[in-house]
Amino acid sequence: MARSKDRGTGKADGAAETAAAAAGDDVANLTMEDAAAEHARLTEEIRGHDVRYYREDAPTVSDAEYDALRQRLAAIEAAHPELVSADSPTQTVGAAPSEAFGQVRHAVPMLSLDNAFAEEDVADFVARIRRFLRWPAEEALVIDAEPKIDGLSLSLRYEGGRLVTAATRGDGSVGENVTANVQTIAEIPDTLPKGAPEVVEVRGEVYMSHADFTALNARMAESGRVFANPRNAAAGSLRQLDPAITASRPLRFFAYAWGEMSAMPAETQSDMLALFRAWGFPVNPRIRRCETVEDVIAYYRETEAERAGLGYDIDGVVYKVDRLDLQARLGFVSRSPRWAIAHKFPAEQATTVLEAIEIQVGRTGALTPVARLTPVTVGGVVVANATLHNEDEIARKDVRVGDTVIVQRAGDVIPQVVGPVLERRPEGAEPFVFPTVCPACGSHAVREINPRTGKEDAVRRCTGGLICPAQSVERLRHFVSRHAFDIEGLGEKQIAAFHADGLINEPADIFTLEARDKAALKKLKDREGFGATSVANLFKAIDTRRRVGLDRFVFALGIRHVGETTARLIARTYGTWEAFWTAMTGQSAEAAVAELDAIEGIGETLAEAVVDFFQEAHNREALDRLLAEVSVEKVEAPKATGSPVAGKTVVFTGALEKMTRDEAKARAETLGAKVAGSVSKKTDLVVAGPGAGSKLKLAAELGIEVIDEDGWLTLIGDA
Ligand code: IVH
Repeated sequence: MARSKDRGTGKADGAAETAAAAAGDDVANLTMEDAAAEHARLTEEIRGHDVRYYREDAPTVSDAEYDALRQRLAAIEAAHPELVSADSPTQTVGAAPSEAFGQVRHAVPMLSLDNAFAEEDVADFVARIRRFLRWPAEEALVIDAEPKIDGLSLSLRYEGGRLVTAATRGDGSVGENVTANVQTIAEIPDTLPKGAPEVVEVRGEVYMSHADFTALNARMAESGRVFANPRNAAAGSLRQLDPAITASRPLRFFAYAWGEMSAMPAETQSDMLALFRAWGFPVNPRIRRCETVEDVIAYYRETEAERAGLGYDIDGVVYKVDRLDLQARLGFVSRSPRWAIAHKFPAEQATTVLEAIEIQVGRTGALTPVARLTPVTVGGVVVANATLHNEDEIARKDVRVGDTVIVQRAGDVIPQVVGPVLERRPEGAEPFVFPTVCPACGSHAVREINPRTGKEDAVRRCTGGLICPAQSVERLRHFVSRHAFDIEGLGEKQIAAFHADGLINEPADIFTLEARDKAALKKLKDREGFGATSVANLFKAIDTRRRVGLDRFVFALGIRHVGETTARLIARTYGTWEAFWTAMTGQSAEAAVAELDAIEGIGETLAEAVVDFFQEAHNREALDRLLAEVSVEKVEAPKATGSPVAGKTVVFTGALEKMTRDEAKARAETLGAKVAGSVSKKTDLVVAGPGAGSKLKLAAELGIEVIDEDGWLTLIGDA
């Protein structure tokens, strides 16, 4: 889960605030005995969460919930101070280190930061410091502001200028020895320049960038195990027992603090970081020196606004007093310094209940699962819906209706369901069964086999193209487009408007528009900018298209994968609509697929898509209605002989000056040539115009004949 590794300070954020307040309210009324029992229970629960979070990189509750638990524990301790012990979670940080790694005792403990959630907390922080130092009101107090990186903290110890140990934070006193792994991180120097103190401990954050995280997960997806977020990926990669694995993971580092130093080479926080930068450590470029509360708040707001574009996760900003002598005077309170504070962004993850999984049908027929959630505030916004991506994602995450789920929101992206909290699964929750029929129209919804990979497509699609209300506008727009029915005056805008008015729902409706009742026509004429003349013109344009070639007709149906070339191939193979119709509907689906598949230029996926279309009764009925209005004309098979390009595969590339690409293609096909979009060994001829690039280069490499536009026209006798 995307969550800061710094877990809680006793203050709760956002959604959990009310719950947390309630959680602490009754504490004063507890008997000593009940308080002790509650204290023990909370301690155990928090420790369990700490182990899952810090050691296993697999937390099960949101930050807000964790904060609420800590707040309740702190409230109990405030009411019953005798319950505070040195090993209470309020006095310790993180989880004891895993035994899989060697242990390293930190020379200077790795502490945590107190958290501020509201701007008043920041004002209090500054006021507290000024009071503590008795700093004159009129005198500026320099505070450095920097991003709070959401990774995991690391301490790097150099002796005599060489990296000797690298350790995780662990419980703050003892961490895990990850030296061998850290030596594989390119951004971390193995040696320091001459002149650096004898002992130097540089501390900072190991993290993974968004781009590297996405690429890593894509690589890992094949093994079926992916990381939920960059922090988990960074932690999982650093804590590998085999350094070779760490080496293959793109880890990065920002230096922002230090531990033991045999000599202090600077007097301020900012000079220390400048020195680290000079020694070769990456230091965040966004660090800013501020002088007032207003300055730091402005920094916070700017950083939050730019957060999504940084390319790595941050979960807030950190403010630190710049002068090291003042830091020393301010010192520490229990586990955090008085001279620094983390100003956290509102939680971007929360848990809530998955009430239902609904299936939405997109404009192109893709079925998308949407999670309906009990509304919850995530990152300051109420979220009631989130995406579940697709069928496989639901199965992989095993999210079930009734589950408590983790919801994540980052920047402007659609909220996502990260996964279920298995401990809270209600009894009887069943795995989700993805529908195999379209919820919008009842047609079959299928997953195609990708011919390249041989794997099922992740997306299930509705096959009810012509009649599916979810797809109709898109389908109608295609139906009237230039290479299909090409109806003048009936563009995308008009189609959308007529559809919204209920005037056109399916292709046949276009041709029955004129014969419709008065009320419908009035609706049409009432359209803004659509007078009697335009209506008359539209009807005329529609009428001229009542006869259409079989190739255009097949293309217009918008069957998946059937573009112009395939439509033309089909039209030429079958000649008439009747012949095509009989082949598609007069035999078994298997026989129809085999027949199409046998046509050169048509593969199995395409054949199946065409047959699926005709298998749908809805589509056949819509076709009947359409064919009552239009007649489909025969397409002659091209005279393939006698032309010099008959049977050849031709590729046009670059600009053509004497004809459009469409014309050139049509002319070539009439002469019996096959026009391909890309150059391959099968290409016979490349016609290259100005600006031809990679295709021309490839043709030369493959030794394919290349001619220009004039050469082409001469060749086919059109010059
Ligand atoms: S300063 C004595 N600066 O946040 C405290 N910490 O909540 C030294 N973190 O354990 C920490 N970015 O893992 C500091 N710019 C930054 C930080 C940062 C991320 C982490 C760090 C620390 C935790 C404290």
